[in-house]
Amino acid sequence: MKRIISPSMLSADFGNLARDTKMIHRSAAEWIHIDVMDGVFVPNISFGFPVLKAIRVASDKFLDVHLMIIEPERYVARFVEAGAGLVTVHAEAVADLRAVLEAIRSHGVLSGVSIKPATPVSTIVDVLDVADLVLVMSVEPGFGGQSFMPHSLDKVRELRAVGYEGLIEIDGGISASNAADAFEAGCNVLVAGNAVFGAPDPDAEILKMLAAFGGRSSEPLQV
Ligand code: DX5
Ligand code: ZN
Repeated sequence: MKRIISPSMLSADFGNLARDTKMIHRSAAEWIHIDVMDGVFVPNISFGFPVLKAIRVASDKFLDVHLMIIEPERYVARFVEAGAGLVTVHAEAVADLRAVLEAIRSHGVLSGVSIKPATPVSTIVDVLDVADLVLVMSVEPGFGGQSFMPHSLDKVRELRAVGYEGLIEIDGGISASNAADAFEAGCNVLVAGNAVFGAPDPDAEILKMLAAFGGRSSEPLQV
């Protein structure tokens, strides 16, 4: 099973964005998580295209774009143009989820669908065949630094139980202390903001998360 760490740039120091991006670029993290918030779908506004482009210039790592915005279908092409390798939209923000996920794929990037803590897996079961990734939120979207909600792992197990074989990503309150639980539940990608950028040695923290899986491996596994 593939295991990836995706540090959330929301917790980076924006006064030193290039420095922080390069630091992640040199680390064992394979992906870079980009949280886009519009102040409507969530009660916070983060950043958009210019910041994404600056991150793209500082690193050619895979950009994992998490759209916490209404009408995300309006912006898919521009996020792909700005460097996204995966575009994830929220199930709660989209009327025709299948059409949006297919549109994302038609741009040649991975399609992702995310569910908030109160949204059941049953909401997305019908579109799993067009989702390359499911992002299970383990906090209410909107802010970094919140506490992990353990029941989110039940949803990860449920996705595997219904036969979903795509990537599962978990986002919110992840650290080296719960990384093993997340991997063991069936997650492939762990997003971590505060745990990485708040650590004295972010790279060591990332390695610790990767090593957490039953203590059996310190290397990210390939599919
Ligand atoms: C929350 C964002 C998360 C957040 C994670 O809305 O989607 O990606 O930045 O931050 P931590 O790891 O600090 O909970
Ligand atoms: Zn996120």
